Amino acid sequence: MDKMLVISGNVLNGTVATSGAKNAALPILFSTLLAEGEHTFDNVPLLKDIDSTADLLKSLGCETVRGQGDSQHTLKIKVSKLKTFEAHYDLVRKMRASILCLGPMLAKYGEATVSLPGGCAIGTRPIDLHLDAMKALGAEIELRDGYVFAKAKKLQGGTVLFEKTTVGGTENLLMAAVLASGVTTIENAAKEPEIVDLANYLNKMGAKIVGQGTSVIKITGVEKLTPARHSIMPDRIEAGTLLIAGAITGGDVTVTKCQPHDLDALIMKMREAGFKIDITEDTMRVHPLKTWKAVDIITAPHPLFPTDLQAQFMALMTIAEGTSVITETVFENRFMHVNELMRLGADITPKTQVAVVRGKPKALSGAPVMATDLRASASLVLAGLVAKGSTEVSRIYHLDRGYENLEGKLVSLGAQVQRMH
Ligand code: UD1
Repeated sequence: MDKMLVISGNVLNGTVATSGAKNAALPILFSTLLAEGEHTFDNVPLLKDIDSTADLLKSLGCETVRGQGDSQHTLKIKVSKLKTFEAHYDLVRKMRASILCLGPMLAKYGEATVSLPGGCAIGTRPIDLHLDAMKALGAEIELRDGYVFAKAKKLQGGTVLFEKTTVGGTENLLMAAVLASGVTTIENAAKEPEIVDLANYLNKMGAKIVGQGTSVIKITGVEKLTPARHSIMPDRIEAGTLLIAGAITGGDVTVTKCQPHDLDALIMKMREAGFKIDITEDTMRVHPLKTWKAVDIITAPHPLFPTDLQAQFMALMTIAEGTSVITETVFENRFMHVNELMRLGADITPKTQVAVVRGKPKALSGAPVMATDLRASASLVLAGLVAKGSTEVSRIYHLDRGYENLEGKLVSLGAQVQRMH
């Protein structure tokens, strides 16, 4: 199992480009199930989760072709009549987002059998809201033998009010509603930029969606969609992670090919901590700073502070001046990086949803640590960049699910990071 060796001491400097967004690519790839023919996507990141999605699409009868060399970020998906409507446990258990094949299959073929995603390291993460949304459009849902059996003659548009903001639930419903008859209104829809990217691709295919990016999305169902070409938006979480990497080492790092506006909450908090950050339409630059202030964050749905940057921001706070209170409101069990950061010398008191981080500049020192989930892995690598000596992060397969060549990007900025097989 691969490990990452991080040796501290180097200040990161330079320019690094953002890859395509995992969380936009996944629903968009599943949306191909809505239209037979050839779909082409550019800026698709090279990630394990993308491979898992491709494997699932192939198991349903689609063909996927990745470009070679300079075209390796282009992915073509050829969809013909599916050979099965079943997403098997072996594939779904690898990636929770597999549940996103439910809406499109149900809308297009009137039938979908999807394994229930297993438990997840960051809380129980149920799919009840996805299922309620499908039911609201007229689907019959049965849970049996670890699977969701969904059926519908023809989905009927309606109004769905999500009682909790859910990114995946909003995406699944969007994909179901585009081929439903009549108008669907999603209230309390998630406003994440990845939802806008999905809606934009659906509209390119001929869907009629308005309001994406706001809390009310209106979808007028159409008879048929046609495949199109689309470039996946930049990964805001990767961009934010790279910005924090520069900041934590006191470096001067410019992140390019990103959408800074999608990271307003992070930029605001980093500025509050004392960092000077310049932004243009598609770049962000953090200027060197020797010591910074502790600030509090509360994670919440977009446009507030993203839960997917909470662990990385906590790493930054472990060596800030003062005490930071970090509140996680999106997931119930997302502090598993805390114990590992403490192994590096961080002074943190975790409670259920709140972690009190008593920052101490130069406090960290290297140790072997274990990654527990995707973003936790990133936070340990960031902490490793400033933990005296060397830090060995094990279980970095989590990192490979969601960061394209993170070690290569950090090395290009001057870090000493090495993958060990
Ligand atoms: C997506 C992102 C993930 C991010 C999260 C929140 C993808 C592939 N993943 O995950 O990186 O951390 O948004 O920004 O885009 N919930 C229910 N019932 C449901 C669905 C969700 O109770 O049916 C709860 C979850 O347990 C969680 C909260 O709602 O507490 C938000 O989850 P949701 O927004 O659905 O996250 P995901 O779509 O799984």
